[in-house]
Amino acid sequence: MSLAVRHATREDAAEMAELINTIIAIGGTTAYEEPFDPASMDASYISLPELVSCFVAEAEGRIVGFQGLMRSFDPDDTLPDGWATIGTFARVGLTQRGVGGALFARTLRAAREAGITAIDATIRADNTGGLAFYARQGFVDYDRMVGVPLRNGAPVDRIRKRFDIR
Ligand SMILES: CC(C)(COP(=O)(O)OP(=O)(O)OC[C@H]1O[C@@H](n2cnc3c(N)ncnc32)[C@H](O)[C@@H]1OP(=O)(O)O)[C@@H](O)C(=O)NCCC(=O)NCCS
Repeated sequence: MSLAVRHATREDAAEMAELINTIIAIGGTTAYEEPFDPASMDASYISLPELVSCFVAEAEGRIVGFQGLMRSFDPDDTLPDGWATIGTFARVGLTQRGVGGALFARTLRAAREAGITAIDATIRADNTGGLAFYARQGFVDYDRMVGVPLRNGAPVDRIRKRFDIR
């Protein structure tokens, strides 16, 4: 699959929402449980004031994945100064074909340029694919959030991985 990686723009919001909503509907990987619409996607991944970067990967004119990196924005889960948190989504049916890795190469460059010193990835403990992906990029475990409830109350641990930028 020939991939082109570029910055996300507001015009991408609808396609990015559609891509992530398919992942949310399947369940079990992303921590998101509510679907996005173009406005909430724009607010979360494109126009967010704390955004460091958001890249999309395209193949044959279609968005096949995106990756956002943002400085601390959640008052209930603050990150240390210099840290940013990452989220990666590859189109269902097109995983394990290099989309996430191609996005991370660009995100890492943007992180360095922005002076980010460490990247957090907080992943559901039952998301074996996500854990394997970030481990493959060089992330290592640094914390575990125990029993974070899903919308239905079911507790699911979150594994926190970090990537230090030197
Ligand atoms: C996790 C996710 C982003 C990975 O993206 P991807 O495009 O499939 O990843 P890549 O093809 O670039 O894989 C990069 C490396 O990770 C490994 N990897 C990716 N997914 C894997 C999996 N499910 N199991 C084992 N290894 C995996 C690949 O084998 C590859 O290794 P290599 O460099 O030795 O070839 C994708 O599966 C996804 O969107 N999942 C649903 C959403 C999600 O869980 N996001 C993570 C939490 S934010």
